[in-house]
Amino acid sequence: MEQQHRTPKRRRWADHTVTVTGSSSGVGRETARQFAEGGARLVIHGRDATKLEKVREILEQLGAEVRAVSGDVAEAETARALAEAAEALGGCSVLVNNAGMSMRGNFRDIAPEVFSTVVETNVVGSALVTQAFLDQIIRTNGSIVFISSVTGMTGFPGISIYAAAKMALTGLAESLRGELLASGVHVSVVYLGFTENDEDKQILSADGTNLKLKRRYDMTQREVASAIERAVRRRKKKVVLTWKGTLLRVLQRVSPTLVSAIVRRSGGRFHQMRQ
Ligand SMILES: NC(=O)c1ccc[n+]([C@@H]2O[C@H](COP(=O)([O-])OP(=O)(O)OC[C@H]3O[C@@H](n4cnc5c(N)ncnc54)[C@H](OP(=O)(O)O)[C@@H]3O)[C@@H](O)[C@H]2O)c1
Repeated sequence: MEQQHRTPKRRRWADHTVTVTGSSSGVGRETARQFAEGGARLVIHGRDATKLEKVREILEQLGAEVRAVSGDVAEAETARALAEAAEALGGCSVLVNNAGMSMRGNFRDIAPEVFSTVVETNVVGSALVTQAFLDQIIRTNGSIVFISSVTGMTGFPGISIYAAAKMALTGLAESLRGELLASGVHVSVVYLGFTENDEDKQILSADGTNLKLKRRYDMTQREVASAIERAVRRRKKKVVLTWKGTLLRVLQRVSPTLVSAIVRRSGGRFHQMRQ
């Protein structure tokens, strides 16, 4: 039977250490806040130490014990520092691999360094951190969550290398789940749809310059963070968010041909490649 946590929300995560990569902003920050509200100790992370300190203040005001680690997620040294910080808080029972970098641009135009940055941040970073945390998560019979995207379920024009990277997380999670079967560790992938962004959120354009992304969204960061917490609590293997994501999941089962037609005809509309 799947293990579930059933204590009241305020104390649900008391005595648990939760690590959220990329928690200096956006969904990661709200996920860290959600677990802090449930009583967890937190390891937070990002490259921007100033933003990270602001998040630390928010979490400490909620009563959480917090360690902050700054560094590039794609470097093994950062993964080691994160694991050490979690160990100092008693050992991690929930790891949320959230740090990620998106992009927009036609495949033909994408600079080599954009390929590397997107794959290293989303895939290599998640792999390095997960590997550094394996012993702790096995010891605590804990959870490993990979934050993917609806674009990790099917590719769309204008977002090719990001889609490839997010799809790779599914492969990583499935292989890992198989390897960890006997240990009872919970491995989950959460596929996010269009989510509220921080005002200053930036992604990469094809040539590697920063691009500000302004668009409508289907879920708030708070709603997404709640869904991530719920996925851990209920030990769900796969969670697809937003009505568009749910519709895509159903269509992929009943009519893959229709999905291909929608993707083909979208011409980049879904990801602002067409004005
Ligand atoms: N927002 C959406 O609509 C949406 C949709 C689908 C999937 N997602 C996924 O959800 C996750 C969170 O996205 P978000 O919208 O919250 O983005 P965000 O606000 O840009 O946050 C990304 C986080 O990742 C960190 N980060 C980025 N590159 C890093 C690197 N190389 N090393 C270390 N940390 C790095 C950032 O920290 P620093 O800036 O401090 O480095 C930041 O804390 C990502 O995995 C994203 O792909 C988002």
